[in-house]
Amino acid sequence: MEKLKILLAVVFSLGMASAASLGVVQTEGGSVQGQNIPLDRIRSVDVFKGIPFAAKPGTFEKPKPHPGWDGILKATKFAKRCLQISMLQTSSFGSEDCLYLNIWVPHGQQVSSNLPVMIWFYGGGFMVGGSMGPNFLNNYLYSGQEIADRGNVIVVSVGYRVGTLGFLSSGDSRLPGNYGLWDQHAAIAWVHRNIRSFGGDPDNITLFGESAGGASVSFQTLTPHNKGLFKRAISQSGVAFCPWALNKNPRKVVEEVAEKVGCPTDDRMVACLKSTSAVTLTMAAPLVTQGSPDYPGVKNLPLSPVVDGDFLPDQPVNLFHNAAEIDYLSGVNDMDGHLFTIQDIPSLGNKTQETPIEDVKRLLAAYTKEKGQAGMEIAFAEYSSNWGSPPSQTTIKRTAVDIGTDYIFLVPIQTAIYLHAANARSGRTYSYMLSEPSLMAGPAKPFHDWVGADHADDLQYVFGKPFTTPKAYGDRHRDLSGYMIAYWTNFARTGDPNKGNLKVPATWPEFTTTEQQFLDINAKMNESSIGQKIRLRFVHLWTSILPSLPSHADNQ
Ligand SMILES: *[C@@H]1O[C@H](CO)[C@@H](O)[C@H](O)[C@H]1NC(C)=O
Ligand SMILES: *[C@@H]1O[C@H](CO)[C@@H](O)[C@H](O)[C@H]1NC(C)=O
Ligand SMILES: *[C@@H]1O[C@H](CO)[C@@H](O)[C@H](O)[C@H]1NC(C)=O
Repeated sequence: MEKLKILLAVVFSLGMASAASLGVVQTEGGSVQGQNIPLDRIRSVDVFKGIPFAAKPGTFEKPKPHPGWDGILKATKFAKRCLQISMLQTSSFGSEDCLYLNIWVPHGQQVSSNLPVMIWFYGGGFMVGGSMGPNFLNNYLYSGQEIADRGNVIVVSVGYRVGTLGFLSSGDSRLPGNYGLWDQHAAIAWVHRNIRSFGGDPDNITLFGESAGGASVSFQTLTPHNKGLFKRAISQSGVAFCPWALNKNPRKVVEEVAEKVGCPTDDRMVACLKSTSAVTLTMAAPLVTQGSPDYPGVKNLPLSPVVDGDFLPDQPVNLFHNAAEIDYLSGVNDMDGHLFTIQDIPSLGNKTQETPIEDVKRLLAAYTKEKGQAGMEIAFAEYSSNWGSPPSQTTIKRTAVDIGTDYIFLVPIQTAIYLHAANARSGRTYSYMLSEPSLMAGPAKPFHDWVGADHADDLQYVFGKPFTTPKAYGDRHRDLSGYMIAYWTNFARTGDPNKGNLKVPATWPEFTTTEQQFLDINAKMNESSIGQKIRLRFVHLWTSILPSLPSHADNQ
């Protein structure tokens, strides 16, 4: 026993002796000290949690620089999430004082320098979310450790305001909105100014994010305010064109919130809102209600970015020149709409219930509402063109999921990828589709066995969860996770997902407007996993055929 203790002590001290660490780091606000986590005898990661990148923000104000601090800030605890509504929408939690970021810096025998940097923006529908992500068994979803270690890059995750405090807008300059996007911008600028002290290369910064975080990344590439601050960007399952990503009628939402908190909706509204407590404002967010085929839940995310004439000087479609020098990698999960569509049509996800064709038509009618009956019929004809007679339940259900995936994610993402490539000068463009079957699909599992990559399935692979919680996964998931980390970090290092420190299973061709190549990502991928023109017929339906129909007078 005693011998074992001594042996362990020796091994432990050897490990410590060789672990390189940054120690105390000077930033513009003061010095910070994180924690060094040894990974093996050679490698370690310095983790800094809860570094402020801006002061506590005023209600509906842009973020301001942090005043700084004396002494050494112990950066060893995640800061609170930005104030947000709880899952049941009956209470709120978090803090207004939430503009903090976390940093993971990998080291080998020597302290690192000049590493590529990846900045993560969480999803959560612009309503909820946190820089650390949900926590299972003390394992935070957005821990940057695996990416940092395997890819030899610095990972940064940042907090930004969400809900009413992040995105309420009066649609004019009195309450312009986009506070959460300004927070993200402030974080990017902070990283650009300070990351060299952490061993990062300020000229090699890549943004990445998923869902609302992916759309956020897209907005950060389109704004004119980030010139020179970052080089590359990755949007997973979310872009500026997603129907939930841009609020076209902020006035309606602000009046609803004003009425809820007892503010007048006339000239006095903005002053009254600004003097309302942050918790009251947070709780006054329009409720996200259960969807139905006639009112799909995704139409129900009213707090999102707006064209404010400042952060977004124009409609996103007119801002791609700002992204012309940025390398852009973006993609979709092959059943990204599953999670949402099973809410709208509950029978869809229930293995013992049949889904009537009528429900598929109602969902399609809701998505094509402004084109009236004609739009629904043309769209339905397209989606049912390969159906058998009668169609099987699997065919009907899969079609409904396809409709949700196309409308909520896939088509807008293809539009953004295409426009990026069409407007690029030095910037490259890469497109992917993740097609790994859902872990929840199968005979003794909740989902139908045909369910592919659902919304947010990509997160676990990008953040290396199959390595950190090996029992929850199989070898195929570790293969896939390794592939995604390789492509993502190679891209951050060189602008080409194929070139960098890590080997990849297939050469990912650049997306060009003529060929429109994409990479089909899954655990069994190989050199043949290249496709062209994702779901061409349906992209054509939503981007060309439907828009050419006359709009209904009372469109919404
Ligand atoms: C980024 O890092 C790579 C690898 O260290 C280096 O070759 C490159 O010059 C750096 N800068 C840019 C802007 O890519
Ligand atoms: C599925 O449908 C069956 C039969 O209608 C019902 O009893 C069951 O509760 C449903 N399951 C779920 C998970 O909703
Ligand atoms: C690539 O994978 C596909 C699908 O699993 C398989 O059919 C094909 O034979 C593989 N090709 C090569 C070159 O390994």
